[in-house]
Amino acid sequence: MSWKSTSLPLSELTGGSMRKALVDDRPILLLRRTDALFAFQGRCPHEGGVLANGTLERDRVICPLHGAAFAIPGGTLLTDPDGIAPPSGDVPSLTSYPARVTSGTVEVDLG
Ligand code: FES
Repeated sequence: MSWKSTSLPLSELTGGSMRKALVDDRPILLLRRTDALFAFQGRCPHEGGVLANGTLERDRVICPLHGAAFAIPGGTLLTDPDGIAPPSGDVPSLTSYPARVTSGTVEVDLG
């Protein structure tokens, strides 16, 4: 494990919200759902949409560019762009990372 700070205080990531962070030059999506914290790659694997600008629903995050949906937790692709289900397999799922809070700041392990 190699924990890295996102410089984001947990207090700025309220329940049901998403934020973007840059860790080691890698864009990261951070999201919080009630008491659970999640970290994923920050750009959509389809065409690079900034996922933090998308929509967070109860069990999924939806890309702002073309509407692909990814499962929370896990990051599995649920629908292709334009909401097409089941997905064809052309767009990969999201890479997820372990996340934790140390001294009030969110940290991630990028492996
Ligand atoms: S860039 Fe995300 S669905 Fe196209």
